[in-house]
Amino acid sequence: MEILKTPAALKAALEIFKGSVGFVPTMGALHIGHKALIETARSANDAVVVSIFVNPTQFLEGEDLNAYPRRKEADEKICELAGVDYLFYPDVADMYGRDEVSLSAPDVRGYILEGTSRPGHFSGVLTVVNKLLNIVNPDRAYFGKKDAQQLMLIETMVSNLFMNVEIVPCETVRDDDGLALSSRNVYLSAQERSEALKIPRALKRATKLVMQGELETGRLQTEMLAVLEPLEVEYAVIVNRAFAPVEYVEIGHTIILVEAVVGTTRLLDNIWI
Ligand code: PAF
Repeated sequence: MEILKTPAALKAALEIFKGSVGFVPTMGALHIGHKALIETARSANDAVVVSIFVNPTQFLEGEDLNAYPRRKEADEKICELAGVDYLFYPDVADMYGRDEVSLSAPDVRGYILEGTSRPGHFSGVLTVVNKLLNIVNPDRAYFGKKDAQQLMLIETMVSNLFMNVEIVPCETVRDDDGLALSSRNVYLSAQERSEALKIPRALKRATKLVMQGELETGRLQTEMLAVLEPLEVEYAVIVNRAFAPVEYVEIGHTIILVEAVVGTTRLLDNIWI
């Protein structure tokens, strides 16, 4: 595995590589969910690039930018064992200049749900993902469905900017107790972790009701909110695949999303049905 620090070094290494390239962008603190993305990329490409970059522009004032878990050695080992060919580890100064041209997430779809609770977050995500895709120029890039709104906005950006990359959505990976894997789970105390399980339980409850024939989203939302009590719920909503709220679930076209704050940790989860 080659470890490259600058965009120029990575570009130079990839320029002489002739096969297909799969790319997994991350912010580090890698877990089994990232490993699954890497393995999916590994199975479909001749080389795999992973980037580890805690992107400052997607954190809001007062968020956990400085406290965000950084685990350089453990991450390197995970990448090495998973068969990563190129690990890209840039500094902020390598990725951002003083005068920046940046991308904005679209007003409506970018600012519903997480966009409302974290204004500016998705513009930061799109800006850095655009930069990373330009540096790596991969054939395919891999993103988890857990960050469903991020995934949708990246697909929109790739289409709007006529970018030459296939975005591959990957299933959410869960711990045995059902909690969706996230680098932020390390912030949870044992007590908070057991409270956080209300999130997958609420999604499971809604899915079960849908399977029993309850398609009215208002009723499903009420049921989810009851399971989520007493968590601080940012949203528990049911949308179509274009992220518009819907009155009735249409199987095969719907996403049920929850964001809740547990202790001081904001956790996201969703189910695609
Ligand atoms: O999902 C993430 O880890 C980040 O938002 C991403 C896509 C690596 C951009 O910084």
